[in-house]
Amino acid sequence: MLKGRDLLEPMDFSIKELEDMFDLADRIIEDPAKYVHACDGKLLATLFYEPSTRTRFSFEAAMLRLGGQVIGFSEPNSSSVAKGESIADTIKTVACYADLAVMRHPKEGAPKVAAHSTEMPVINAGDGGHQHPTQTLTDLLTIRRTLNGFDNITVGCCGDLKFGRTVHSLIKALSRYKNVKFVLISPEELRIPDYVRKEILMKNGIEFEEVRSFQEALPKLDVLYMTRVQKERFFNEEDYIRLKDTYILDKSKMKLAKEKMIVLHPLPRVNEIAVEVDEDPRAMYFVQAKNGMFVRMALIMSLLGIEG
Ligand code: CP
Repeated sequence: MLKGRDLLEPMDFSIKELEDMFDLADRIIEDPAKYVHACDGKLLATLFYEPSTRTRFSFEAAMLRLGGQVIGFSEPNSSSVAKGESIADTIKTVACYADLAVMRHPKEGAPKVAAHSTEMPVINAGDGGHQHPTQTLTDLLTIRRTLNGFDNITVGCCGDLKFGRTVHSLIKALSRYKNVKFVLISPEELRIPDYVRKEILMKNGIEFEEVRSFQEALPKLDVLYMTRVQKERFFNEEDYIRLKDTYILDKSKMKLAKEKMIVLHPLPRVNEIAVEVDEDPRAMYFVQAKNGMFVRMALIMSLLGIEG
């Protein structure tokens, strides 16, 4: 039962709870009209201390499509944050008005501080370079709907594996399934953090390899998860410029991939996927963005205890 719970990181929900949520998302996708009054009278607060397009809009669209309403900010300086109000006081105040809250924050752990300060469900919409669990719900739903499940798949994660919080969350979530293998493709400087390598991959005996060559990895993959080099988390511009175009997926590289491989990307993209790849039926990143709204509809209903 997810009613009243928080979602701070991907392991907060059991596999069974996730499967139930994905089943609900599938039912919503099949017949969205059935759910237009599911959240009548409910209010979602969106507290975005960092920029967002997909996460914020998909949460807001999700609540509106369920009949609920939305309050919030996308620019913290338009709120009393600008006067120095703490996260705890902000969330306690928001809880006086809303039924659940979504928070994105540049500091790791900020949504956890918020969740501990209120009884209202709090959803982490991305905290610094740490976790992004609702992107993981989006990614998992997309893999489940296209590859019919998660067992026995080889997932290639490519790009900025150091700062890319979506990759950290995805690896954590997929580590619970059978025979999932990872190929981690990154430049030396942007390798996966030690806590993911040791605490998640090695500790759970998960097969993985770390490679530099994109071409070498592509033929092995069932899922290619591309990521953007996270400019905003670099300490100096020179390093960013040197690394930003290390991997660019284009039509010619797609020829090396399996016929059924899918390409995912949490978006936004910069240069790492050429626009020409969009017309390839294996390019699933815009389907993935749309699934993000449906899975967030299912999440909102579940946390509010609204029956599907
Ligand atoms: N995928 C993702 O988090 O996108 P936004 O930053 O646009 O929300």
